[in-house]
Amino acid sequence: MIISKKSVLDKFSLKGKKAVITGGAGGMGSACAYAFAEAGADIAVFDVKPEDDPGIREVLRQIESYGRQAFYICVDLTEESEVITAFNKTLEKFGEINIVFSNAGVAQQIACEDMELSEWHRVISNDLDSMFLVARTAGRIMIKAGQGGVIINTGSMSGDIVNFPQPQAAYNAAKAGVIHLTKSLACEWAVHNIRVNCISPGYIHSPMMPVEVIPEDLMKIFYDRTPMKRVGVPDEIAPAVLYLASDASSFTTGAEIVIDGGYCCW
Ligand SMILES: NC(=O)c1ccc[n+]([C@@H]2O[C@H](COP(=O)([O-])OP(=O)(O)OC[C@H]3O[C@@H](n4cnc5c(N)ncnc54)[C@H](O)[C@@H]3O)[C@@H](O)[C@H]2O)c1
Repeated sequence: MIISKKSVLDKFSLKGKKAVITGGAGGMGSACAYAFAEAGADIAVFDVKPEDDPGIREVLRQIESYGRQAFYICVDLTEESEVITAFNKTLEKFGEINIVFSNAGVAQQIACEDMELSEWHRVISNDLDSMFLVARTAGRIMIKAGQGGVIINTGSMSGDIVNFPQPQAAYNAAKAGVIHLTKSLACEWAVHNIRVNCISPGYIHSPMMPVEVIPEDLMKIFYDRTPMKRVGVPDEIAPAVLYLASDASSFTTGAEIVIDGGYCCW
C-alpha cells in the first residue's frame, strides 16, 4: 500500500515508548519532556544538576502529571563510565530504550586568541564528546535489542553559520561536529533501523540564553539579524523534536531541522 490509512495524528504518538532526555533540567530539554509525556512516553531525565534542583523536580512533576513514569539520573555526560551506568540503570528500569533526545550542552564566549586549551577542551567535551558517548551507548543498546530506535541530537545554527558578534569558535566547531556526527551515524545505523537526526535552534530564550540579563544592544543585534525579529521559546522547538522522535518521521534520517526564525537565511 503506497498511502497509509493510519491517522496522521496517530503517527505522532509515543504511546508505550521509553525515552531518555539529556539536559532536561530546564530550557529545551524540559519542553521536549512535556511534549514526549503528553504524546505517551515514559522518560528518564539525565542532567548534571543535583537531584534537588528545582528544574529537575518540576520536570519530573510535569511528566508524572501526564500519567507517565519519570525518573532522574544525575550524570556528567562527559564521563564515559557515568554515561554507561546511566543507560544501564535506565534499561534495568524500563526494559528497553526506544528514543534518545541528546540535548545537553554548554555555551562559552572567549576570543580564540585568549582561549586556553583547557577551555577549548571543556566545550568540545561537553558539546561534542558527550554527544558521541550518548549516541554510542544508546546505539549499542538499540542494536543489541534489534528493535530499531530513534536518536535526536541538539546541534545549533552555530554549526551552520558564525554568530555575530560573539566570539565562540569552540562552540561553533562543536555544533558543526554534532551535525556531521548525526549524518554519519544515520548512514551507519540505517541498517539497524535506528534513525539519527538533529535540530539546530537559533536564539531561544532559555537558561543558556537569559534574554532578561543580556545587554539590550546585543539583543538588538540578535533581533535585527533574525528575519522574524524575535527570539524563540523552548515550546517552539518541542513539536519538531516530537516529529523526529515519532513514526511521523519514519523516512527521515540524517536530517537537520533548523528552527531559527529565519536567521540562517540572511
Ligand atoms: N538557547 C539557545 O539559544 C540555543 C541555541 C542553539 C542550540 N542550543 C543548544 O540547546 C541545548 C539545550 O540548551 P538550552 O538552551 O535548553 O539551555 P539549558 O542550559 O537549559 O540546557 C542545557 C542543559 O544541559 C545540562 N548539561 C550541560 N553539560 C552537561 C553534562 N556534561 N552532563 C549532563 N548535563 C549537562 C545543563 O545542566 C543544562 O540543564 C544545548 O545543547 C544548547 O547548546 C541552545
